Amino acid sequence: MSPNLNQVLLDIALNLSSNLNSETQYQHLIDGIDRVFPCDASALFILDQDGFLTPVAAKGLSSSVLGRRFFPNAHPRLEAIMQSKQPVRFDANCDLPDPFSGVLLSEEAELDVHDCLGCSLYVEGQLVGILTLDSMTVGAFDVIEPVTIETFAALAAATLRNIGQIKALKAQNKKQRHVTETLIQQARSKQGEMIGLSPQIQKLRNNIATVAKSDYAVLITGETGVGKELVAHSVHAQSHRSDKPMIYVNCAALPEGLAESELFGHVKGAFTGANSNRAGKFELADGGTIFLDELGELPLILQAKLLRVIQQGELQRVGSDKHLLVNVRIIAATNRNLEQEVEHGQFRADLYHRLNVFPISVPPLKQREGDIPVLAGYLLEKVRSQFNIPNLHLHPKALTQLEKQPWPGNVRELEHTLTRAALRAIQEQQHIIHTHHFDITLEDVVVKNTSKYFPPTSQGMRGLVEDYQKDLIVHALEKSNGTWSKAAEFLQMDRGNLYRMGKKFDLSN
Ligand SMILES: Nc1ncnc2c1ncn2[C@@H]1O[C@H](COP(=O)(O)OP(=O)(O)OP(=O)(O)O)[C@@H](O)[C@H]1O
Ligand SMILES: [Mg+2]
Repeated sequence: MSPNLNQVLLDIALNLSSNLNSETQYQHLIDGIDRVFPCDASALFILDQDGFLTPVAAKGLSSSVLGRRFFPNAHPRLEAIMQSKQPVRFDANCDLPDPFSGVLLSEEAELDVHDCLGCSLYVEGQLVGILTLDSMTVGAFDVIEPVTIETFAALAAATLRNIGQIKALKAQNKKQRHVTETLIQQARSKQGEMIGLSPQIQKLRNNIATVAKSDYAVLITGETGVGKELVAHSVHAQSHRSDKPMIYVNCAALPEGLAESELFGHVKGAFTGANSNRAGKFELADGGTIFLDELGELPLILQAKLLRVIQQGELQRVGSDKHLLVNVRIIAATNRNLEQEVEHGQFRADLYHRLNVFPISVPPLKQREGDIPVLAGYLLEKVRSQFNIPNLHLHPKALTQLEKQPWPGNVRELEHTLTRAALRAIQEQQHIIHTHHFDITLEDVVVKNTSKYFPPTSQGMRGLVEDYQKDLIVHALEKSNGTWSKAAEFLQMDRGNLYRMGKKFDLSN
């Protein structure tokens, strides 16, 4: 091979591993051919899915060629090239029509007497395109050694394959990104609003808005069902990371033995069953937020590893000695009293202080003044639209009853209680939820609570007993749909006596 040929082949081979755009790579290939072969024109075609040949680079041909597509059936020379695995020669005497007739740039082109050579390009047994060379000099291609043209064909095929694969990868990547964005969008819209008008909720909202803009770790505490997860989503949604995912980790449900790999990933062969490399939750959250829910349940050994990642901003996949840098904002939530856990040695003090940079405590429902009516309205509206019912209301007495509850399960408990009551009302084809639609458990609490009422300061026995009597009558009437005789039966007393007593308490009308 001539030194020139070697240089051109080297250039094209280097081209293959470059990250030039596809058009430039195709053009480099054609330029290389021009430097080596005695030709006046050359073109590289890709065979597309519809069976058309599309020129992607050309030299010595009018650039209008690049805008055309050639259907092989209409161009016997191109068809012949495609059908042969060997290079095909068409000499000056060949009477098959020339696909480039009229587009050759050479001055002698009008003579239309020239040699043509073409070869098909295969990748793994599949035809992917063709390469054509034209020369004005009759017999120009006689001197070309077949191995040279085959070498070029192989390089051209490799270029097409490379570019094809990169395009496919890019398309896949784009699709993946699109899917991720859609999922983030969906997750965001599925997260409900934080409802409440109480000063306690206003303060919570302010706290969230303040911390959201920073990159500080946030520790959310509060009883079960108060809305800690909702707060976490709200912090992420208001942060500058909101277009990136918030990756959820339930520390209480980390699979034993696999917890470290779940958080930090692993490399192939790190342990039995590690068949491939896998990114952990921290890597997935890179650029975004990680939400460590139920943080109090994190085993001590993992607490140490988590601390290292937070302190150094880098992690190691299980089985790898490579350090990976990650940029992750941490939000954690727990319903445990971590300070106490630290005192008892169940939670690492250093980790606690690292995460407790900005504590947010979500108040229990019973402390939120006046939130039950708005929450009830919001939650019922959810049920109403789910079941496509035109109307669903809460009877004022039912609302009063809800407001009296202690709600140890907070908003979640309120939501479940209301949903169950609504379903009962719907079943009875009623659009008003009455007290009797509520669960036994709810009423139990009312009775227990009332019966356990002791005055904190001195109060007359008589008044207290009367208050209790009044509550009992209200309760009995609610159980009896407002019927006095039934309420009397419930309280095992005379109807007349009950009615008189109710009148005294302003309960009859
Ligand atoms: N202020 C609120 N407005 C509307 N819905 C709320 C509010 N607070 C909580 N919820 C709803 O109550 C349910 C429980 O909330 P969430 O799961 O966030 O509680 P949690 O504090 O994480 O509880 P746990 O400690 O048990 O995990 C969810 O369905 C949530 O949407
Ligand atoms: Mg939760």
